[in-house]
Amino acid sequence: MTTHLEEQQPVLKIQGQATLKGEVTISGAKNSALVLMAGAILCSEDCRLRNLPSLADIHRMTQILAALGVKLQRNGDILDINAQHIGQDQAPYELVSQLRASFFVIGPLLARLGMTRVPLPGGCAIGARPVDLHVRGLQAMGADVRIEHGVVHACVKGSRQRLQGAKIYLDYPSVGATETIMMAATLAEGETIIENAAQEPEITDLANFCRSMGAKIKGDGSKTIIVSGVEKLHSTDYSVIPDRIEAGTLLIAGAITQSEISLAPVFPEHLASVIAKLRAMGPQVVIDGPDRIRLVPAPLKATDIETLPFPGFPTDMQAQFMALLTLSEGSSIVTETVFENRLRHVAELQRMGADIRVKGNVALVRGVPFLSGAPVMATDLRASAALVLAGLAAKGTTVVQGLQHLDRGYDNLEGKLRKLGANLRRVNVASEQESAEYSRVN
Ligand code: UD1
Repeated sequence: MTTHLEEQQPVLKIQGQATLKGEVTISGAKNSALVLMAGAILCSEDCRLRNLPSLADIHRMTQILAALGVKLQRNGDILDINAQHIGQDQAPYELVSQLRASFFVIGPLLARLGMTRVPLPGGCAIGARPVDLHVRGLQAMGADVRIEHGVVHACVKGSRQRLQGAKIYLDYPSVGATETIMMAATLAEGETIIENAAQEPEITDLANFCRSMGAKIKGDGSKTIIVSGVEKLHSTDYSVIPDRIEAGTLLIAGAITQSEISLAPVFPEHLASVIAKLRAMGPQVVIDGPDRIRLVPAPLKATDIETLPFPGFPTDMQAQFMALLTLSEGSSIVTETVFENRLRHVAELQRMGADIRVKGNVALVRGVPFLSGAPVMATDLRASAALVLAGLAAKGTTVVQGLQHLDRGYDNLEGKLRKLGANLRRVNVASEQESAEYSRVN
């Protein structure tokens, strides 16, 4: 049964098998933009962020910062941030619970104020996602951290209320924990060394952003990051890197519809593992310039995929690649090692005729000659993209529900695909009859 509210949710109707053509513009990276927004709290002067994507997650982060007293002004893809007057108020749980990245404010708030309270972000659709590595890093830097009633209370011991540099080894190269510690360390006293740090491009983007405000950071992009704390950071004007996951998703849109398309701006080195896997499957990815790539289609062959921290294959591309593998000749093994519950798109792809078997965190995908359009439900952000991709290639009409996931992380994906020639539109499920057709017990 669906509720009245669910009946009002828009759905994406995709008429599959259109050929795509042309060039598509890639927006700023969601994961970079979110952490840079939190990082702007480190500075009490004006910060300007450019190339900000237009996304529900970015809007939520704006609301969280505003609740903390930060002044924000958005004009197109530019966001002006001034965190001169930040309060000790905690970010509202209703907002934090909708956005895990909101926890990233803990490092900057602690570094600036010497104490802070941030609600735990809670679980999410793709796994439990604890924050123990963030907390242990802050404790190593001299913070007292306790969790009470679902809220993390952190304060810096000692009269100067300044975090102390420390040597921190991360048990796992967590992106978020590396970012939290790196931000906190920029204003700490002395040197912080982060061992087994994450090497994702978003880490380097954050380091570049902090350096543009006067922070002293070395080694980002490698496994050891060294931060020498400074007293204060200054004003900056900084542009967010292009979104490698949006670019990867659109490359697959070309490959799955057997279409030649170009993408810009893109930093090909951020997509090395994705490009290597696409090439192994048959399509050519041509580097047309320092920030431009082109997908030249070819018949698809199976390949195995295992998700890993960067420079390994990104977990954020696993679902989209699985959609592509369902239409490839032969059998592929997909192993998800980063998140424990990130194969929920399998059941939806099966509804479209995919031949996939799952055991634990491993999926065996046997290629089928075609997928057929069906009503499907998006279960998380990247799963929603995978279903859109499958719908582009499927025979007939696919109706994707759960678009709130898509809107979290893709800046006008359907507009961009439509411009390339895809046949898709967002509609409100109006009549009772249509609603019954599209809804399912999930
Ligand atoms: C970030 C990205 C997300 C991406 C992920 C991995 C943002 C906003 N999100 O998420 O899109 O899928 O990196 O590339 O940048 N873990 C712990 N303890 C911790 C922290 C993490 O056990 O304190 C575990 C997580 O549960 C997960 C693994 O480490 O299993 C990787 O998580 P992490 O790299 O921290 O991902 P996020 O920063 O949450």
